[in-house]
Amino acid sequence: MNFEFTEEQIMIKQAARDFAKKLETDVIERDYKAEFPTHQIKELSELGFLGMMIDPKYGGGGMDSLSYVMALEEISKVDSSVAVIMSVHNSLVTYGIEKYGTEFQKEKYLPIMVTGEKIGAFLLSEPEAGSDATSQKTLAEDKGDHYLLNGTKNWITNAHCADVYIVIAQTHPEKKHHGINALIVDKNTPGISLGPHEDKMGMRSSDTHSVMFTDVKVPKENRIGEDGFGFKFAMKALEAGRIGIAAQALGIAAGAYERSLQYSKERKAFGKLISQHQAIAFKLADMAVKIENARNLVHKAAWLKDTGKDFSLIGSMAKLYAADIAMEVSTEAVQIHGGYGYVKEYHVERLMREAKLTQIYEGTSEIQKVVISRRILMD
Ligand code: CAA
Repeated sequence: MNFEFTEEQIMIKQAARDFAKKLETDVIERDYKAEFPTHQIKELSELGFLGMMIDPKYGGGGMDSLSYVMALEEISKVDSSVAVIMSVHNSLVTYGIEKYGTEFQKEKYLPIMVTGEKIGAFLLSEPEAGSDATSQKTLAEDKGDHYLLNGTKNWITNAHCADVYIVIAQTHPEKKHHGINALIVDKNTPGISLGPHEDKMGMRSSDTHSVMFTDVKVPKENRIGEDGFGFKFAMKALEAGRIGIAAQALGIAAGAYERSLQYSKERKAFGKLISQHQAIAFKLADMAVKIENARNLVHKAAWLKDTGKDFSLIGSMAKLYAADIAMEVSTEAVQIHGGYGYVKEYHVERLMREAKLTQIYEGTSEIQKVVISRRILMD
């Protein structure tokens, strides 16, 4: 593995860093008001970050996953709400359509998604099927030339801002997970309604809702893959999605660390800078080691994906580790800041709230341990 970055990767990282700097001006207010970052997402699309990895023949940037995770890390250092909108759109939805969709689906959806004209959402979780993803209750009844969708999805990131939904639903309950399908659904189809905006602890300005389907007609041509491929599709999309969330968690940790490092060189206590107290210096050392380890795992997962190798195991390890250290590092960041860490102005309390979500969505830390332990016991 080559640890040198290409010129293009360095440029993308810098572009993401410059963009993130602008996010900083009103991130606290947007978080407080749980306000969707409309203008910021427009700028993200102008930078080409909503179609980064998509083939240029569909209008995408044709960039590698390593550039993508580097960009996500920079954005997440400042604003994880923007990062998760970008992550779900890229790693789950456009990736899923490009990798497993038909040519018709790719030509119809990718060009309008890479420009950000249409945003994507991934609808897997249900009131009783979050971690237990095989227990899908949403029905996609086969009606000949179309499916009829009925059911409820929960905790859907981008539910309101997205126009293109990938919905995982059960067509043949007797076949259990082998009867599940993945359907591309236009959000403006009659019969779709949204629950209220979820008032979340962190990542408050990304929009999260329940989505209800009542007799929603979906053309057969919108099914991804063969009849019954939906569960495997969801697992494959989540494998890629987990690298994005790992990069996000890494960014949260790195953002909390960088702010703590800076603060420790400005704040004095007992007659000297707090960085000169070993109690603080050792915390910073522990944070730096954890971040370096997490970055190596995230970059390795991206490299495996870019080189066409199996990235499932390392991707889950990266997600598990980066999310756990994001929680640890951001908690220590609050501690280093003392009372200032507990108020909004210094950002680290927000980073700590954001870190918690990375241990929960796109597979909890416990789910990653299921995936990892099964793989290491099988090999
Ligand atoms: N690739 C391909 N196939 C896979 C797979 C993978 N990575 N993982 C499992 N499968 C297949 C298995 O081979 C099996 O197929 P067969 O029966 O044909 O052999 C089938 O899927 C069922 O697998 P398991 O028996 O292992 O299923 P399980 O119920 O024991 O556990 C699980 C599977 C790994 C726990 C899975 O349910 C899972 O990942 N759950 C978490 C789901 C999740 O991440 N939810 C988050 C919601 S999405 C989100 O958060 C998006 C957002 O908006 C931010």
